[in-house]
Amino acid sequence: MSSVTVDATTPYEVRVEPALDLAGTVSATLSPGTAVILTDSDVGPLHAPSAEEALRSAGWVVLNTVTVPTGEASKSLSVYEEVVRSLARAGLPRSGTLFALGGGVVGDLGGFVASSYMRGIDFVQLPTSLLAMVDSSVGGKVGLDLPEGKNLIGAFLQPRLVAANLDWLETLPPREVSQGLAEVVKMGLLAGGKFFEDLSRLEAARSGEVETLQALILHSVRYKAAIVAEDEREAGLRAVLNYGHTIGHGLEAAAGYDLPHGEAVAAGMLSAARLGSERFGTDLLPTHEDLLRSAGLPLEVPTVDVETVLAAMGRDKKRRNSDRPGEYRFVLLRDVGRPERDVPVGIAEARHAIGAVLAN
Ligand SMILES: NC(=O)c1ccc[n+]([C@@H]2O[C@H](COP(=O)([O-])OP(=O)(O)OC[C@H]3O[C@@H](n4cnc5c(N)ncnc54)[C@H](O)[C@@H]3O)[C@@H](O)[C@H]2O)c1
Ligand SMILES: [Zn+2]
Repeated sequence: MSSVTVDATTPYEVRVEPALDLAGTVSATLSPGTAVILTDSDVGPLHAPSAEEALRSAGWVVLNTVTVPTGEASKSLSVYEEVVRSLARAGLPRSGTLFALGGGVVGDLGGFVASSYMRGIDFVQLPTSLLAMVDSSVGGKVGLDLPEGKNLIGAFLQPRLVAANLDWLETLPPREVSQGLAEVVKMGLLAGGKFFEDLSRLEAARSGEVETLQALILHSVRYKAAIVAEDEREAGLRAVLNYGHTIGHGLEAAAGYDLPHGEAVAAGMLSAARLGSERFGTDLLPTHEDLLRSAGLPLEVPTVDVETVLAAMGRDKKRRNSDRPGEYRFVLLRDVGRPERDVPVGIAEARHAIGAVLAN
């Protein structure tokens, strides 16, 4: 099995294969039509020509390949404007399809473009980073950042198809592989069972072993898909995916977004493991440390001001009006495979757990 079906309101397939037959995979879902490919300046030169060629061979008319600068800064209103205007100039019709070939930045930006251009066009995710394959390409959250905060503009738009060619990962820098593995570790800890057992293969995944990468990606997609199917619009359950992210997001903000997301989430999970052992008497900290080390992630982050982290956590968009000041809600693990949502954590406990993951 190299594919997973996401049972969203409109179900779609996620295919994960080496040497993926892109033409065949796309044709099995969509009849050929008019398309634009969106990519970034790192991925485009490496992988856009072959993707374009595959689509053409399947009968698609590719009007244009739009390339945005690599990096988070492309999830901005100004780049968004450039992209929608280039679709308009290319003459992409309402019946057209936008293919996002790249990491999470291209996927989030492309999805938001597809959700709004002509009130919505078909969207296909072609994830090229490990993070995009295991996390961002699945679930339909798309959006942009504002100077005031990350992901503050967005929409829900499920893609028609997600097609990941494992060969694309051959060009992904090792540090980026580890960023994706942080989310894999997170989901394996949340899921438990065979997925958790397969986390013993993290080193092999890091060294590029294709079967292992495929297994871990499929586990992750299956886990995320099950949650999305239950809670497509994040009314409740989907919040478990925030494991490690409450403090992780705070650390990223306090570091001025200089800290890679996976490294921030790794530190956030270590903090959460400490909070979990205080709250539930668990002993999962060594497990977290072993897994994150195998994923090539640091066990601490460069020091930042703890009060700035706490303040950023207080501004998180996932906070509710009913949340008390000086209190945070965490996802904590009662055990591997047994997450608990909405665990209230006081500011003093949070301060302590953050302090423990800062390098001196
Ligand atoms: N929508 C969601 O549900 C969701 C979930 C998690 C993260 N995200 C978003 O995803 C983004 C992060 O995604 P990301 O880590 O993929 O970042 P990214 O898109 O910036 O990619 C990371 C880097 O790797 C490069 N790259 C990607 N694939 C490559 C390949 N095959 N070969 C060589 N280089 C390659 C990119 O050009 C970039 O420089 C953030 O904006 C985050 O908010 C969204
Ligand atoms: Zn994340």
